[in-house]
Amino acid sequence: MTDPLALDPVLPPRGRSERSARPWNEDLPHDERYEHFEAHVTAGGKIEPTDWMPDEYRTAVLRFVEMHANSELMGVLPERDWIMRAPTLRRKLALTAKVQDEVGHAQLLYRVAEDLGKPREAMFDDLLAGRTKFHNVFHYPTRTWADIGIIAWLVDAAAIVAQQALRDSSYGPYARTMQKICWEESVHIMHGRDVVMTLVTGTPSQRTMVQEALDRWWGPLMQMHGPRSDRSKDRDLHWRIKARTSEELRQEFLTIYVPRIRELGLTIPDPELRFDDVAGEWRYTEPDWNELRTVVTNHGPKSQERLEFRRLNREATAWVRAAILSEPGAAA
Ligand SMILES: [Fe+2]
Ligand SMILES: [Fe+2]
Repeated sequence: MTDPLALDPVLPPRGRSERSARPWNEDLPHDERYEHFEAHVTAGGKIEPTDWMPDEYRTAVLRFVEMHANSELMGVLPERDWIMRAPTLRRKLALTAKVQDEVGHAQLLYRVAEDLGKPREAMFDDLLAGRTKFHNVFHYPTRTWADIGIIAWLVDAAAIVAQQALRDSSYGPYARTMQKICWEESVHIMHGRDVVMTLVTGTPSQRTMVQEALDRWWGPLMQMHGPRSDRSKDRDLHWRIKARTSEELRQEFLTIYVPRIRELGLTIPDPELRFDDVAGEWRYTEPDWNELRTVVTNHGPKSQERLEFRRLNREATAWVRAAILSEPGAAA
């Protein structure tokens, strides 16, 4: 077996923990520590799990990462429905691999969140009781195979725009985890685009199927990053937990993907959508924020069914966790 200590460090020097040299880990009065912490974070420094951090920072990172983990976990359910119905063996294998990747992302992110002090069981309790949320796009049904292409291509694309910015997060473990996740997400996007390309170059009814899927998903996609917010009042931005506002992310998504969608001859179902050269930004019909609020509070078309699936699944697999996590000798 390879001795892990004999391997070169994977992380470049600037990505590694430097906790011994950090003044806020010293025994200082709270306000002084806080000032050092604040100066370090706002200057672009990283925070590691063993560093001292204000409770507000810890809980803000935890809330952000937990929602992300929940979304990866719940996000596989719309695609899971199509594993057995994928049209070819190659598609079935690719979709299965994607679903495995997404569950792996949830696993990595729950670990990051656990380090911040919330046990995984508590995160599951909260998710299943509706006390924490998951992204809006995962509350909708997948009606046809074209939905699977649109999800992998455009939902993952909207997500990666946000996730790429998170590679610079001030919380070190989250930033590093996002590097792996982004790499895998970029493969998901290629898979989704290939599914969509195959359908749009197929029969007229396959092409119609893609257009109908785009019509269904455009609204949720435009809502996905959330309403505009005031940069100066956003503490997640101030502490560099995240790097971009919701509107900046939506604009970037539109800049990259509107041309790519149109290139395939598809019509984006928004007559107001256009790039305003003077303002240098996209104009669009205001997304339905009421729908977003309804859906993310678990009143979406598939919210309850998917949470119920997770509840039943958790009960059915409890014996596995009990066997693995029990004290040595307890099973004897
Ligand atoms: Fe993912
Ligand atoms: Fe993905």
